[in-house]
Amino acid sequence: MTKNSNKPFFTHALMGWNRDINDRLMPWKGEKDPYKIWLSEIILQQTRVEQGWEYYLRFVKKFPTVSKLAAAKDDAVFKLWEGLGYYSRCRNLLASARYINENLGGKFPCNYDDIVQLKGVGPYTASAIASFAFNLPFAVVDGNVNRVLARFFGISTPIDSTEGKKNFSVLAQELLDLQAPGLYNQAIMDFGATVCKPQLPICAECILSKQCAAYNTGKVHELPVKEKKIIKKTRWFYYVLMEKEGRFFVRKREGKDIWQNLHEFILVEWPGKIAVTELMQTVEFKSVVQSKIKLLELSEEYKQQLTHQTIHALFIHLKMTGGKEPKGYELMEVKNLKRKAFPRLLNHFLAHKGWK
Ligand code: ADE
Repeated sequence: MTKNSNKPFFTHALMGWNRDINDRLMPWKGEKDPYKIWLSEIILQQTRVEQGWEYYLRFVKKFPTVSKLAAAKDDAVFKLWEGLGYYSRCRNLLASARYINENLGGKFPCNYDDIVQLKGVGPYTASAIASFAFNLPFAVVDGNVNRVLARFFGISTPIDSTEGKKNFSVLAQELLDLQAPGLYNQAIMDFGATVCKPQLPICAECILSKQCAAYNTGKVHELPVKEKKIIKKTRWFYYVLMEKEGRFFVRKREGKDIWQNLHEFILVEWPGKIAVTELMQTVEFKSVVQSKIKLLELSEEYKQQLTHQTIHALFIHLKMTGGKEPKGYELMEVKNLKRKAFPRLLNHFLAHKGWK
């Protein structure tokens, strides 16, 4: 499978780079508390280090122990997570903290099998926690690791194929420095993030370049290979800001869709772009908004790009003049909106209005 069988060299050279050259600083680096490592790894699952950094610091300050997190109100934790995206991570974080608190006496599990059982924790995160906190011999495999290995060993098996996933994880495990699994895991991630970068790798300064299969065959930019393209869906959200005596109808999103547990205004989703005057005549709109209304203002179009979806949104500001109130929404004053967590797109709109 591997064209470059220089495995002991790889591990040795990487650890040398880590000791002598790697100067990457991050607040969770060297941390030994499994709870804090877990927190950092969940934050970093789908978030860049620069963005996750401040969130991590705010979380450990507000919730320094797993019991403190377990005792927190849902809304307080979602508020702290606001803007990070992928809110199922936050839900799982809370569920796991409460599970640890209630069933494990507040003690974070200290072996791989128990760690990987936690909600929201997969093999990558479990390996990271097990190696960083307990120095257990589990190699991490993430995007950074795949890229470094695909390039150095010249592997063109797609990293997202069944075969690729298996091969890369076997190879990663073979390369692990058993004397220092935590240090090694952090080193390979740092190397991928600072030297063997996706777009502009610094091959000129790379201590592995002489032995690197991709570098030696001019294939650095062709590796790693992915087989699947992300298919994006486009959605149109028409938010109705219905005002009643200076307050607005707001609800918490539930169900399996995006932005679970975040707040929003009355929502009418439409399968494409539609004129608001036309939308307001539809059965769909009238089934949600059964009040007597007066149109006050229409916003410009807002857009948010998610990994698998593009969301377009328009905000329709109405005054309720009578009739039925919408079901499932609570009335909230503008000054109280800042206490609730909203999706980024809604926050942009609210900031534009000067409401948040
Ligand atoms: N991404 C995920 N975990 C990380 C870590 N511990 N350091 C840097 N980047 C990461």
